[in-house]
Amino acid sequence: MTYEERLQHVSVLGAAGKMGSGILLLTAVEMADLSLKPGNKGKTFVLNAIDVSDEALAGVMRYLRAQILKIAEKKVHAIRQIYADRHDLVDNDEIIAQYIFDVMNVVRPTTRLEAAYDSNMVFEAIKEDSALKIKIFSQINQNNPKQPWFFTNTSSIPITVLDEGAGLGGRIIGFHFYNPPAVQKLVEVIRSNQTLKEVDEFALAYAKNLRKIVVPAHDIAGFIGNGHFMRDILYAVEVVHIFMDKGMSISEAIYATNRISQEALVRPMGIFQLIDYVGVDVCSFIMFVMNPFTRDEEIHSKLLDKLLEQGIKGGQYSDGSQKDGVMKYEKGRIVAVYDPLKSEYVPVSQMQAAVEAKLGAMPAAPAWKAVVGNKAKDEILKPYFTQLKSADTLGAEITRNYAKKSREIGKHLVASGVAYNDADVNTVLLTGFFHAYGPINEYLD
Ligand SMILES: NC(=O)c1ccc[n+]([C@@H]2O[C@H](COP(=O)([O-])OP(=O)(O)OC[C@H]3O[C@@H](n4cnc5c(N)ncnc54)[C@H](O)[C@@H]3O)[C@@H](O)[C@H]2O)c1
Repeated sequence: MTYEERLQHVSVLGAAGKMGSGILLLTAVEMADLSLKPGNKGKTFVLNAIDVSDEALAGVMRYLRAQILKIAEKKVHAIRQIYADRHDLVDNDEIIAQYIFDVMNVVRPTTRLEAAYDSNMVFEAIKEDSALKIKIFSQINQNNPKQPWFFTNTSSIPITVLDEGAGLGGRIIGFHFYNPPAVQKLVEVIRSNQTLKEVDEFALAYAKNLRKIVVPAHDIAGFIGNGHFMRDILYAVEVVHIFMDKGMSISEAIYATNRISQEALVRPMGIFQLIDYVGVDVCSFIMFVMNPFTRDEEIHSKLLDKLLEQGIKGGQYSDGSQKDGVMKYEKGRIVAVYDPLKSEYVPVSQMQAAVEAKLGAMPAAPAWKAVVGNKAKDEILKPYFTQLKSADTLGAEITRNYAKKSREIGKHLVASGVAYNDADVNTVLLTGFFHAYGPINEYLD
């Protein structure tokens, strides 16, 4: 079966979810572009958008239409070429409307899993539950005579567990998009211990057509992205305790750790803001899934447990704005920090001066925005880290230790066989987490 034939009948499971809707959009556009190629006229391309509620699917169809309009506006010149023989389409508006129609025309929203019984391949983005994923894969596999391929978006479950659990004989691969899939360039690709070569080759061709950056990871729970992120969280919690030992309250310590991990480490977000962005519950759950597979270390945070017990979850509203979580946000700014010992938010204005006094003088860190994507970033970062090396304050010491820990985590991912090499770890943090520099570096040597 060729690449095009494989993409003639596809299903996306969890199509109304955060990841599924993005995967649906990208795949719908790729399939429609194939269907509009001159040699493919008359061939049918079917993309089932499968989820559990009609209401959610109606929402995702509205989302698709709005996103396709944006895509069409951006590539209107290329689309004009596609419709070169359509003399009835003259204005850009007409061409864009036709393109939206042709992409939407590929998509079939349905709540019936049975629709996937005819598909050549299935993208899966349902919740992170290995028993549920295995049950659904087995059901489709047993009822689909086409020996379908499964592309799972799992963040943390080993692909071999899903492959063996559902008896797929290697017709599965981890194709781990980052959130949101339509925007994020990175995809981690993970093979099970028996993923078929042709599945792997298709994955790379599909990623290339979607203009994604592929980083392969070995099949070890959490892979590279969450492998680093979850351990980074656990270290941040250690830092909170260090600050508390130095006399800070827990909310001050969380605030200080968040600032160190953002400003002083020149990252786009502090670690607790990132936890809120992803969701305290999602982070905790990823740890729960990873923990049984990690030897000699405990991937579990009592602080996250405590926050969840008190209903502190974070996450985002449907318009993408940040919900309150570990921290409270007003127009995107952090205005208060949750104190799980007192069960209340403490305004930042009440703690700022005390935290700054405890951290002590810090070398002026470059703004993340000035560094990220800057070709001459070494010239900015090297002098900054050199200053940081000799700074003799609590804040500088913790920043150095944090940077070293991040490097140690990265090195551990390579040594334990999760990542193939240092460069892959750095690529994941640079592209998937928008860090300005990779964790495996020599700035503090
Ligand atoms: N959110 C992220 O940042 C992120 C990033 C990378 C990977 N992932 C992974 O992607 C997957 C989905 O995560 P999400 O954040 O999009 O979750 P989500 O909760 O936003 O979406 C899951 C969707 O699956 C649907 N669903 C549940 N059971 C179903 C079933 N039996 N059949 C069909 N649809 C079903 C739900 O209704 C929901 O729409 C998970 O495996 C997660 O680990 C998430």
